[in-house]
Amino acid sequence: MSVDQTIFEYSSPGRVGVALPESDVSSAGAGELLGSDNLRDDLPLPEVNQVDVIRHFTKLSLANYSVDRGFYPLGSCTMKYNPKINEELASLPGFSELHPYQDESQAQGTLAAMYATQEYIKAITGFDAVTLQPAAGAQGEFTAMMVFKKHHEKTGQGHRHIVIVPDSSHGTNPATAARCGYGIKKTPSGPDGRVDLDALKEALNDEVAAVMLTNPNTLGLFESQIAEICAMVHDAGALIYCDGANMNAVMGWYRPGDSGFDAMHLNLHKTFSTPHGGGGPGSGPVAVKGFLAPYLPVPNVNKQGERYFLDYGSRDSIGRVHGYYGNIAIVLRACVYILSQGGDGLKNVSENAVLNANYLMSKLSDAYEVPHNTRCMHEFVASASKQKELGVKALDIAKRLIDFGYHPPTIYFPLIVPEALMIEPTETESIETLDSFIEAMLTIAREAETDPDILHSAPHNTPVRRLDEATAARKPVLQYNPEG
Ligand SMILES: Cc1ncc(COP(=O)(O)O)c(C=O)c1O
Repeated sequence: MSVDQTIFEYSSPGRVGVALPESDVSSAGAGELLGSDNLRDDLPLPEVNQVDVIRHFTKLSLANYSVDRGFYPLGSCTMKYNPKINEELASLPGFSELHPYQDESQAQGTLAAMYATQEYIKAITGFDAVTLQPAAGAQGEFTAMMVFKKHHEKTGQGHRHIVIVPDSSHGTNPATAARCGYGIKKTPSGPDGRVDLDALKEALNDEVAAVMLTNPNTLGLFESQIAEICAMVHDAGALIYCDGANMNAVMGWYRPGDSGFDAMHLNLHKTFSTPHGGGGPGSGPVAVKGFLAPYLPVPNVNKQGERYFLDYGSRDSIGRVHGYYGNIAIVLRACVYILSQGGDGLKNVSENAVLNANYLMSKLSDAYEVPHNTRCMHEFVASASKQKELGVKALDIAKRLIDFGYHPPTIYFPLIVPEALMIEPTETESIETLDSFIEAMLTIAREAETDPDILHSAPHNTPVRRLDEATAARKPVLQYNPEG
């Protein structure tokens, strides 16, 4: 059984995996029930024995790369280890067997955990109210922008139709604003990679509904003039949104609510170690200042005395953004993580995330150009521009890393750095892991000088070598065809 064979290719007629007893129920009548044209006895299913089935699926699972298999420095995605206690506690039958329509009196434990998570998020972010409904970071952004829109409409500012997005913001920010019907105005970063205050000031006027700012930004830099920026935006009558997906860098050290932001979202998978789950389902809670609370989605979880209940309170709510109450299973995992770390633990998490990123940056910045080579936060953006002069691109470096057993970093993002290699080690990696990765990156930098072809043809030890990724995405082959 070779690694690139499909299960169909080692099928052998008559071979079975499990012997079933003869059916003692007559199949007569199936034709009448289903219509004889719909009966099939010629399905070309593979005929294999049990051990081959087990080996097939085990082989497939091993072909998949995950944070449980190895280092995953995918910048902007915060691929940190998910402690198994999160899984264990969120899977307790009292949580996992609950029905969404079960009476509140029988769901007090789950409601208590959701309420607690809302309270922890308020304490961590410095905001007054939280919704747990959004199912991803981008949906959190969408929720908050709809909240802003409603607020503007309610306060006679509905004519505001522009959202400003600095060019160091995450790509979902302009997409969200456009989805909410806003026009986008992009402002450039200054030479230090942070918001250019003059450009922002010039862009602000009474047509601007909001500014969406990612902090720390996608260059891995903290926007140090944030209080000034927030004041400037408010003076222009606009609101300011914090894309707080990078909160892993600042927990316990900085609260966006304190510096003047009106709303933010968190990515529970990035900050609170819940599974990414192949892009979803996730959870992107939104936190807002008190004056925006009436517009949040309903229901929220509230408490009266010792009783928890689903609060459908506000008539100004933008409505639901998710069926039922959000992705509770993910919220529970985040709740376990917050409780198991505690306040000091979360502060420590951020400290180590920043330390690990700065360690990598300092060790790699001779071999690779780092355009903003000051202290970074939880991630940094290097560039393969030196290697490009030798004919080696960021893509070649990323593919070669696979040969060394690593998941590649994010490449070609953010767009403002040419040949970007965006590296985020996270706090969950040991110094030994970081050192091995550094060694691989330095070896690759040397290969770019001495043997560039080994990079051009990488990866060398994967079942499928270098793909035409555009064709793979646009015209995926999803069906087995025995004719080839
Ligand atoms: C800074 C930032 N903002 C927004 C998002 C979007 O989050 P999601 O992929 O959960 O929609 C991400 C994703 O990782 C992110 O890194």
